[in-house]
Amino acid sequence: MDEMARSQRFESQLDPAVERFLSSLRFDWRLLGDDVEGSLAHVAMLRRQGILPEDIAERIQAALQEIRREWQAGTLEPKRAWEDVHMNVEGRLHEKIGPEAGYLHTARSRNDQVAVDMHLYMRREGAALRQELLELLRALLRTAEKSQGIIMPGYTHLQPAQPILMAHYWLAYAAMFQRDVGRLDDWARRVDVSPLGAGALAGTPYPTNPDFTRQALGFSALYENSLDAVSDRDFLLEFLAWASLFMVHVSRLSEELVLWSSQEFGYLTMGDRYSTGSSIMPQKKNPDVAELLRGKSGRVFGHLMGLLTVMKGLPLAYHTDMQEDKEAVFDVVDTVHGVLSVLPGLLDSLTFHPDVTYQNAQQHYTNATDLADRLAQAGMPFRQAHHRVGRLVHDLYQRGYRGFHEVPRDVWNSVAQDIPYEWLQALTPEQLIAARQQPFATAPEAVARQLSALRAWLSANA
Ligand code: ARG
Repeated sequence: MDEMARSQRFESQLDPAVERFLSSLRFDWRLLGDDVEGSLAHVAMLRRQGILPEDIAERIQAALQEIRREWQAGTLEPKRAWEDVHMNVEGRLHEKIGPEAGYLHTARSRNDQVAVDMHLYMRREGAALRQELLELLRALLRTAEKSQGIIMPGYTHLQPAQPILMAHYWLAYAAMFQRDVGRLDDWARRVDVSPLGAGALAGTPYPTNPDFTRQALGFSALYENSLDAVSDRDFLLEFLAWASLFMVHVSRLSEELVLWSSQEFGYLTMGDRYSTGSSIMPQKKNPDVAELLRGKSGRVFGHLMGLLTVMKGLPLAYHTDMQEDKEAVFDVVDTVHGVLSVLPGLLDSLTFHPDVTYQNAQQHYTNATDLADRLAQAGMPFRQAHHRVGRLVHDLYQRGYRGFHEVPRDVWNSVAQDIPYEWLQALTPEQLIAARQQPFATAPEAVARQLSALRAWLSANA
């Protein structure tokens, strides 16, 4: 078997430190099922094309299936002497059926082999992540439904800006994650391509049929160019870019949860199943889950930068540099699964404090724009109305009022003779919200429409 591990081209064994350094076995073991699937299709093709005799092909196929079962059962031991998962499968095959195992690698290279493994792996993981992402969207939908009647201030520059419905807020995050689903679907088309049969880079001199393996593996298309087939890691870079943008959304959402659950905001409480204590301060209830969700974005962005840098100067075709794709991609796949395993539950665990959010929506002059609009409707140029109301807010803050609604009539009449006191009655948060009627705006009917659009989208995309 060791003639497989080390070619006769060399006079000495590999230096043990080099062997350790080169080995990808530590992380590519998870590809074994995909590797066997690719090999089964390859052998079926060799057999059909008359490149491999039936009986040998059958023995190889049966043994490969056994190896996959051993791997699934956890009884297969990775062997370090064989530098990666591909060599381990072939080595194990040799242990099982002897030198006939050597026929498996006919008309194939590890370059197209590892490429097809990664395509199979990403296709499956992409589909699983899509399902998990839909679960997140369902949780956001439930959260939005639950908070439909709650009024809160919307912010710009983290300063209270204008009152909105809290549901409107969650729906904004839903929109981001819907785009993430769309991007994943778009990416999936470029994963759905078979590189198998490209050989080392140029194709092979055997009468192979790459379209047969493509079909056997359920890919929609074959690469157009064999050099590209073995050199392409765009589909992995795109995945990392996809995950990075997804993590931007997760991180922003998590930041809001951290902020809103603070004593200072007090807008919501996270469930105890999603909160932790402090090792020293007994009173603490910390938003660790949201913090870690926010923090996980760092490693994902890092892996994107890492693999972009690995790929940027590489001539065609395969280089061992490209082995670095795996730890990056696997870590990001695991990270995103981890994120999606807790985020929906965290959202479902939230309880809201509508009195606090309402009070903040009412204070801080969040109706100042609408008062200026009212002056503008009465004929004043908007810019002038803006100045007038700005001056008024300044004066009222100086007198200690935190919102127009706190100002008594006599005070009002002394600072704002030019503005009827009655106008204030039309500037409650409810009225401000109801007045914003555009389909994407915050009026209750508009938000209800957005909610049903999300429901419809979810059933169309499930
Ligand atoms: N372990 C390698 C990788 O992950 C497999 C491909 C090796 N190909 C080669 N020509 N050395 O990229």
